[in-house]
Amino acid sequence: MSGAASADHAVAMDRMYRLTRHVYDLTRKPYLLGRDRMIDALGVPPGGSVLEMGCGTGRNLVKVGECYPGARLHGFDISTEMLKTAERNVRSAGAQVQLTRGDATVFDPSPAFGRARFDRVYFSYTLSMVPDWRAALRHGLALTAEDGVFAVVDFGFCEGLGALPRALLHGWLKLFHVSPRAELEAEMAALARANGQRLRFERPFGGYAQIGLIG
Ligand SMILES: C[S@@+](CC[C@H](N)C(=O)[O-])C[C@H]1O[C@@H](n2cnc3c(N)ncnc32)[C@H](O)[C@@H]1O
Repeated sequence: MSGAASADHAVAMDRMYRLTRHVYDLTRKPYLLGRDRMIDALGVPPGGSVLEMGCGTGRNLVKVGECYPGARLHGFDISTEMLKTAERNVRSAGAQVQLTRGDATVFDPSPAFGRARFDRVYFSYTLSMVPDWRAALRHGLALTAEDGVFAVVDFGFCEGLGALPRALLHGWLKLFHVSPRAELEAEMAALARANGQRLRFERPFGGYAQIGLIG
């Protein structure tokens, strides 16, 4: 993404979340399915470093900290508005999380976090909002340590639920700049192959969600 496109996207995200960030965790919990399943599958090693790309309110990072005590937690988001809520949430949870602003397609973690790669890197319901999601996907894998795990959870295509639920869900998501990625599995498979790594991919909840792990 060019600098101007990235700035425009940041403005769009801030506009969307300026008010909704206050009710985000309450309202999203029933339908951002599979986040905890992905967190369970991360298998963070003792003291391992974790990076969430597009961390939103920080909900997942707090959860990762609870599941894997001692993990070193980092997150960034393109929306300054979301980060205000994330900072408040991690503080009130007593979690140790480093947060900063950044764009998932080009983010350089070294200045803010003092490291270039992480043992676990993931996107949770963020790739479907990133215009150049393929670049973000590639970048996420590049930020993952050689023996690390890179994971994605996002909306799927409701294969097991039927055409009507899919049409309703996807039509509604469009209102929020969300485009489920039909080629996610193929794209992750190609990246895994090119890196000589393994891809695990599943479509839980009747295909409502898709979860991929490389490494
Ligand atoms: C639907 S929310 C998900 C938040 C969180 N990951 C979760 O699972 O609750 C999507 C988040 O992605 C962020 N986002 C969108 N495009 C981004 C980009 N290019 N770089 C970084 N964050 C981005 C938004 O600002 C928003 O906080």
